[in-house]
Amino acid sequence: MTTTGRADRPLAAGEAICASAALRDGGPGVRFRVRWRGLPAPAFAVRHAGRAQAYLNRCAHRAVELDWIEGEFFDAAGSELICATHGARYHPATGTCLGGPCAGLGLVALPVLERGGRLLLGRHRDLDDGAVAPGAE
Ligand code: FES
Repeated sequence: MTTTGRADRPLAAGEAICASAALRDGGPGVRFRVRWRGLPAPAFAVRHAGRAQAYLNRCAHRAVELDWIEGEFFDAAGSELICATHGARYHPATGTCLGGPCAGLGLVALPVLERGGRLLLGRHRDLDDGAVAPGAE
């Protein structure tokens, strides 16, 4: 399973995305949701070079999710993030475009921190606190 199990509810800052152990270097990612600039948005977390990273799950080429196969964000070598739609490639540590249709535009990075064996969503000015008004979804 590559989602938090709470995939329908946007996470608030400080909430757990997943167990740290759920992410291995270059392996499958974990999908979750946030509220970005007031709107629900898909996101994902992966691990690269020992560090967990998270991004909005939105290709810089077109606003589609990167993974056709849920949770599969890395290329075959496990070294670059790749969009399954047209092959845009991104650096897993920074989200910067490495080639393809992203044409120099990168992924939107989300702050994360690891505490007590869990990966937590950090704070960002464009992230809502996760509270969802009734009927807003
Ligand atoms: S939508 Fe991602 S490369 Fe085109």
